[in-house]
Amino acid sequence: ATGLNTAAVAKGKLYFGSATDNPELTDAPYLAQLSNTDDFGQITPGNAQKWDSTEPSQNTFSYTKGDVVANLAAANGQKLRCHTLVWHSQLPNWVSSGTWTNETLIAAMKNHITNVVTHYKGKCYAWDVANEALNEDGTYRNSIFYQTIGEAYLPIAFAAAAAADPDVKLYYNDYNIESAGSKATGAQRIIKLVQQYGAKIDGVGLQAHFIVGSTPSQSAQTSNLAAFAALGVEIAYTELDIRMTLPSTDALLAKQSSDYQNTVAACMANTKCVGITIWDYTDKYSWVPSTFSGQGAALPWDANLAKKPAYAGILTALGVT
Ligand code: G3I
Repeated sequence: ATGLNTAAVAKGKLYFGSATDNPELTDAPYLAQLSNTDDFGQITPGNAQKWDSTEPSQNTFSYTKGDVVANLAAANGQKLRCHTLVWHSQLPNWVSSGTWTNETLIAAMKNHITNVVTHYKGKCYAWDVANEALNEDGTYRNSIFYQTIGEAYLPIAFAAAAAADPDVKLYYNDYNIESAGSKATGAQRIIKLVQQYGAKIDGVGLQAHFIVGSTPSQSAQTSNLAAFAALGVEIAYTELDIRMTLPSTDALLAKQSSDYQNTVAACMANTKCVGITIWDYTDKYSWVPSTFSGQGAALPWDANLAKKPAYAGILTALGVT
């Protein structure tokens, strides 16, 4: 049978992939499926490359966890999406509670980016340079970076990443920008800001943390992809999952399958949409239940690693009948 990645690549995409996290890699059946390149041609470390992991104290870098995932991708022949350099969450205390000036925080941020991107040089298909910089209304999130540096922190971050690895694709990544609205417009403003500054930005990552029944329609996603592509950037679905209120029922699983199918079909219809990553592949390791009480079952494989109807829905969108 044709798997998700094989089908996506056959239709001109670069990959279909999954996030993963270090603790799960001791689960042998889990690891075997993650490493099956018929389904997954790409992986993303869910936590291992974040600032709290890679630079827990200032100018002391730790790559052990990130290297495990990078080495796994290399051993499997999978692409690696690298995630993430500048984000307000999962920051070590020395950053989030530090006393900063414009000058000292720019220096610390550039030092972080330069070290991490240099360490992974040649290993990443893309870096999520900046993550979740926006509020829901499209204004800037009041992170330590925005408070201290202003919006210039974004182009400065992209320029530092490009200087450290000129070949890696540089992305802005966020959620709730998968259909038109204030936040998607805000993401478009960030892309133009980085371009106007003269720094390189190659892509926008649409996280796509959706809810069964309120997933944006295929046509809403298609027109949104066109609006981003018009700015000259590529697009990836970077963290796709579609959660439901538990318990799951046959009706919810069927609706979830059509929501997955419509989302994947939107990517398939735009040549600038390069690939799709689900935010882990099994309900066993999804982030959803611990964040949204009473919700879950968001992924195409259930907690016993059995395929759900969503798997077939994705395959249909990939042109496998
Ligand atoms: O590392 C500690 C561990 O030492 C401790 O014992 C344990 C107890 O709770 O917590 C561990 O940290 C957890 C970490 O994941 C590593 O497992 C945090 O509590 C937990 O909050 C953290 O959650 C991650 C979340 O980002 C944090 O915001 C999820 O695993 C990760 O999937 C999620 O990923 C984000 C993307 O990076 C950005 N977009 C949204 C997406 C979902 O939230």
